[in-house]
Amino acid sequence: MYTIIEMNDTNRSDVKDLFIEEWEDDFMVTRGNVIKFDDLKGYVAVEFGEILGFITYNEYENETEITSLNSYREKNGIGNALLKTVINVSVQRDVDRVFLITTNDNHYAMKYYQRIGFSMCNLYVGAVNETRKIKDIPLYNDFIMVEHEIELEMRF
Ligand SMILES: CC(C)(COP(=O)(O)OP(=O)(O)OC[C@H]1O[C@@H](n2cnc3c(N)ncnc32)[C@H](O)[C@@H]1OP(=O)(O)O)[C@@H](O)C(=O)NCCC(=O)NCCS
Repeated sequence: MYTIIEMNDTNRSDVKDLFIEEWEDDFMVTRGNVIKFDDLKGYVAVEFGEILGFITYNEYENETEITSLNSYREKNGIGNALLKTVINVSVQRDVDRVFLITTNDNHYAMKYYQRIGFSMCNLYVGAVNETRKIKDIPLYNDFIMVEHEIELEMRF
């Protein structure tokens, strides 16, 4: 059984390697903003020292942005446990909302987050085309052109 622990000095470099593997680089671009991995907080699902999943997020004054979520043993509740941890930490911080950006090709993520209680609140038309100028993002995924950012939020 896995446990959820905070990203710390001991696991941070392993998580960073996974982050780069998953998201092509050590930074994210959402809504035109560059967010460096080194500035992010996170939680990790571990079992006997093995990383089974991780979430990263960025704290702003009144909101939290989830910047990545990955699970390596899907459909076992790991994604949910990581998300709930960040939501709880955010509620304790008394933020107005937790939000995240996904892209128009990621229909699984859209379904997943909406089932958990997130709601779509913004569409950034062509945002990925802009991001592609500074970050390598595939043009197509699953035969869908990756072009737009979709923002989902959970308000409190
Ligand atoms: C999205 C992602 C993080 C989900 O992780 P996960 O660990 O599979 O998440 P969970 O196990 O909590 O939930 C996944 C599904 O399994 C179901 N589930 C959870 N525990 C279960 C169990 N014990 N038995 C059966 N189903 C279960 C959940 O209800 C959920 O169902 P749904 O997809 O129909 O909504 C994972 O698919 C992933 O890494 N995707 C690639 C990266 C990505 O797209 N990230 C999100 C965009 S930022």
